[in-house]
Amino acid sequence: MSIILAPSILSANFSCLGEQIAALEQGGADWIHIDVMDGHFVPNLSFGPSILQVVKTHCRLPLDVHLMIANPDSLIPAFIAGGATHITVHFETCPHLYRTLQSIRERECKAGVALNPATPVEDLREVAHLLDLVLVLGNNPGFSGKGWFPEMAAKINRVARLLEQADSAAIIQVDGGMNAQTLPEAYRAGARAFVSGSAIFGHPGGIAEGIRCLRECLITN
Ligand code: DX5
Ligand code: ZN
Repeated sequence: MSIILAPSILSANFSCLGEQIAALEQGGADWIHIDVMDGHFVPNLSFGPSILQVVKTHCRLPLDVHLMIANPDSLIPAFIAGGATHITVHFETCPHLYRTLQSIRERECKAGVALNPATPVEDLREVAHLLDLVLVLGNNPGFSGKGWFPEMAAKINRVARLLEQADSAAIIQVDGGMNAQTLPEAYRAGARAFVSGSAIFGHPGGIAEGIRCLRECLITN
């Protein structure tokens, strides 16, 4: 079973961020997920584009940037220049979503759109052909460690059906509340990429063990 694991550094120990990023790569992470928050669109603040330099210094993995910010268009060029390989924006922050997705793809970066728990799946239909990634939030965005809304499994399934109808090869990514119990449920619903913060960084056995558990849960469930 081939899945993409993208640990979110929002849950990292910032006093030794470089070491933790190196441990993610050594432990077998596929992408590094970078949660960018502005205190407006979501009630939390995190990183700006300069964080990419820190991450790049300590690993060679793709950089998966999740923009939870108002007016992302003004910052997308800086994130791509900094090395983002994937940029995901939210419907609610992009009045001209077509233009935003086109501008990401024109810069040779993969483009994604995120669905909050209340964002209608149907909104994807008009932009499905412009998407490499559809991110389904597992809970309300803004914080790590807030669990998983079980009704999101049915939502993932609706996204999978819509993408199939639209003949889109976009990958469904789930972000929020993924652990060894919930990940198999999201996988069965159609997700193939998984963001995880607390289940990896908070694993009692350490980062590599957290990654291993998330991969193995699919074999045993
Ligand atoms: C916050 C972020 C998530 C978060 C996931 O909404 O988008 O990436 O860090 O953290 P966990 O896996 O702990 O729910
Ligand atoms: Zn995220």
